Amino acid sequence: MLNKIKSLREEVAALTAANAEEVEQLRIKYLSKKGAVSLLMNDFRNVPAEGKRAVGQAINELKNFATDRINELREALETADGDVDGLDLTRTASDLRLGTRHPLSLVREEIVSIFSRLGFTVAEGPEIEDDWHVFSSLNFAEDHPARDMQDTFFIQRSPDVLLRTHTSSVQSRVMERTQPPIRIVCPGRVYRNEAISARAHCFFHQVEALYVDKDVSFADLKQTLLYFAREMFDSNTKIRLRPSYFPFTEPSAEMDISCNICGGKGCSFCKHTGWVEILGCGMVDPNVLDACGIDSKVYSGFALGMGVERITNLKYQVKDLRMFSENDVRFLDEFTSAR
Ligand code: DAH
Repeated sequence: MLNKIKSLREEVAALTAANAEEVEQLRIKYLSKKGAVSLLMNDFRNVPAEGKRAVGQAINELKNFATDRINELREALETADGDVDGLDLTRTASDLRLGTRHPLSLVREEIVSIFSRLGFTVAEGPEIEDDWHVFSSLNFAEDHPARDMQDTFFIQRSPDVLLRTHTSSVQSRVMERTQPPIRIVCPGRVYRNEAISARAHCFFHQVEALYVDKDVSFADLKQTLLYFAREMFDSNTKIRLRPSYFPFTEPSAEMDISCNICGGKGCSFCKHTGWVEILGCGMVDPNVLDACGIDSKVYSGFALGMGVERITNLKYQVKDLRMFSENDVRFLDEFTSAR
C-alpha cells in the first residue's frame, strides 16, 4: 500500500498541464470523489490495525501534496503571458473613471485665485452664527427685514443662533481680531429661507472680499472690480456701477458687466439690456469699522460680495439652480474638460 502511495506521489510530482481545462481534468483524476487519491481510502479499510497509522498519514500527505501541485499548475497558467482561457492578459487596462470637479468649486477657486493675485488671502468663518456677526456688527437696524424669520433660519432665539445669510459675517469676525491692513476673500455657503425653485434655493454660495487700510478709496474699489471682471470673463468686459443700498457700506453700489453671452448686444439672458448684474459692493460704513474695533478716523475700506451660482450661470449657462445640488452625474460630467 505504501508503495502504491509512493508511486502515485511520483506521478503527481511529474504532472503538467497546458491549459485550465487540463488542470481541471487532473483535479478530477486525482482529487474528486472517485479520483485516485480518494480511492486509496477504500483500500485503507483493509489495512491491518497496526499499519493504519502510517498509511493514514501517508494518504493525507499525498492528498495535500496533490492539492498543492494542482493549485500550482493552475496559478502558473494564470500568471503566464498571453491568451489564457480567452483572457488577453496583454491588453491595456481600461480607463479608470475619474470624478469631475463640481462647477461651483471650479468657479469659487477661480474667483479666489483672481483675488489672490491682488494680495487677498482666504478667510473663513462658521456657517452657524450669532446675530452680532451676521447683522448687528454690520449696521443692520433692529427692524431690518433681513432679520425676519422669513429670510433667516433661526436655530435658537434669544440669544439668537442662526444660519448665516451672507458671508459678510466673516468680515466682522476678521476685523474684530485683526488690525489693518486687511485684505481677505471669504468663500462659503449661506442659507436663506426661500422656496426651492429653478431660480432660488435655501442654500447657495458667496464670495466676499474686504480691503481695509489707510486711504482706501472708491477708485481702488472700481479698479479692483474692473480687474476682476476682465480676469473672470474676457478682457473686453465692461463694468457699470449703479447706486444701491446695503446697511454695511456707504456709499453702496451694484455692479453689472456687459453680457458675456451676447457680448452686450442684447439677448434673452440679459433681458435685451446688454448688461447683467453680478455683485454688490461699497465703502465699508464707518459704523461697521468702529463696531469691530477699527478706528474709522484712521482707516477706510471697501467690501464686495457675489453669488458663486450667479457667476457660474454666466460662465456655463446653467438654467436651473437645483442642478448644482442634485449630484446628477450627467450634469457633473459636462465639466470634465474644465477639471
Ligand atoms: N452681503 C450681501 C448679500 O448677501 C452682498 C454684499 C453687498 C456684500 C455689498 C458686500 C457688499 O460686501 O459691500 O446680498
